[in-house]
Amino acid sequence: MIEALREELADLTASVRAFLEWHAATGADGLPGHPSALHGALGASSEGAPPAARRADRSFAGLDAPPAAASREAGRAAPHVDQRAAFAPPPEQRAAFAPPPEQRAAFAPPPEQRAAFAPPPEQRMAEAQAPRPPVEAPRPPEPSTRPAMSAASAPRAEPAARAIASQPEPPEERVARLSLIAEEVRTCQKCPLHEGRTHTVFSRGNPLSEVVFVGEGPGAEEDLQGAPFVGPAGQLLDKMIAAMGYHRDDVYICNIVKCRPPKNRKPEPAEMAACSPYLASQLALIKPKVIVALGATAVQGLIGTTEGITKLRGTWKLYKGSIPIMPTFHPAYLLRQPNAKREVWSDLKEVMRHLGKSAPDRG
Ligand code: URA
Repeated sequence: MIEALREELADLTASVRAFLEWHAATGADGLPGHPSALHGALGASSEGAPPAARRADRSFAGLDAPPAAASREAGRAAPHVDQRAAFAPPPEQRAAFAPPPEQRAAFAPPPEQRAAFAPPPEQRMAEAQAPRPPVEAPRPPEPSTRPAMSAASAPRAEPAARAIASQPEPPEERVARLSLIAEEVRTCQKCPLHEGRTHTVFSRGNPLSEVVFVGEGPGAEEDLQGAPFVGPAGQLLDKMIAAMGYHRDDVYICNIVKCRPPKNRKPEPAEMAACSPYLASQLALIKPKVIVALGATAVQGLIGTTEGITKLRGTWKLYKGSIPIMPTFHPAYLLRQPNAKREVWSDLKEVMRHLGKSAPDRG
């Protein structure tokens, strides 16, 4: 009798487990479901979890140390961003995702570093005196030339697009869902790029940010560390972000593809298409006010256009009919063509204007 009851209970437990696993994998809206039920029901522990609190000193080391030391430091001290998201602190603690202003001032790059990105004084003076044009509403998106997605990769994009138009989920739910997507990405084999990767590169920064920066794909350093924009281009990106008045961890940063293309080549359209549901889900959950697209591949991955970045930059586009995109030059291009910083600064100011932020005094 007891034996029979025990068996029945085991059966019941197995079917509840199977249901919760299925729900976590698909979710009612096509995004991974809320993991808390799964974790609770399965008694998952947080074994191996990094400390919940954000490590403000990590980014500080990354900014101020020379590149090699910074890489080592970040590699040693920083848990993978995906891991951090998986064990995100509760909302009230997370308000401290961004360090308090007085701490932030301490972490800000020193003036001489900031000057590296700042436009020359005479330009700033002219800008300060120039009348500000009214904020332009984003123009309608251009017709998409995005390559058709394969049947295997398409299903997640549609619910993500629907989710963009809906109300944002509570912060803790967003963070939890993002961590599930990161988890899925970690084992992704949807395209050949998985064969050469050391780590997948999902994101870094604040998943509750009003601004998302989207790059092309991980480079060598990013592949090693499992975080986007941590190499030389990333250090310049951090300066661009600081010039806008944000701390690098205030904003969310990710890429079109999550695995490094061999020899840093541009991702193939099929690779971008295979990866695009992940980005769609990230953007659907974050619902940023603005996306900054870094380089032509980023714009192509977001809206499908194959137009050159010189033509695209500085003009608003729309992502899935709802989120304004500001295309600008990729920081790697700026490393080769420092003169183009002038245009990038103008694009970033346009973003700040759209967000109702004024340029900080970077004198
Ligand atoms: N370039 C990118 O586009 N993304 C990265 O993460 C690093 C360099």
